[in-house]
Amino acid sequence: MIYITRRLEFCASHRLFNPDFSDEKNASTFGLCNNPNGHGHNYVLEVTVNGEVNPETGMVLDLKVLKKIINEEIIDKVDHKNLNVDVEFLKNVIPTAENIAIHFWNIIEPKIENGTLYEIKLFESERNFVIYRGVELERSH
Ligand code: NI
Repeated sequence: MIYITRRLEFCASHRLFNPDFSDEKNASTFGLCNNPNGHGHNYVLEVTVNGEVNPETGMVLDLKVLKKIINEEIIDKVDHKNLNVDVEFLKNVIPTAENIAIHFWNIIEPKIENGTLYEIKLFESERNFVIYRGVELERSH
């Protein structure tokens, strides 16, 4: 089993708030990220696929193919966008790194034909990132 990763970057703005919360509760829950007019991040996205090396190609999957999937399905839709209003798949979602990563997974996972999506790592800043590995399956012993 081998793991291969493609890293991509995008810039986007967002505002974290829950419409069901009062202004005070939104401010205390989301802090600076609750700024009414939003703020931006330079996101870094790492998508990792694992699988067996195909002996005929020496590859799990062609990274050019993975790059094309991520660009078309994700980057083109979120880069230089406001995640609260511009992105169809994030409608009615609080655009935290956690929620964004889960939605990215759900979009990319079915598109991977060679290998299996293993991990979505999304950096919101150099120090803050989330990792999503899909729904953990019950393991039999
Ligand atoms: Ni933020």
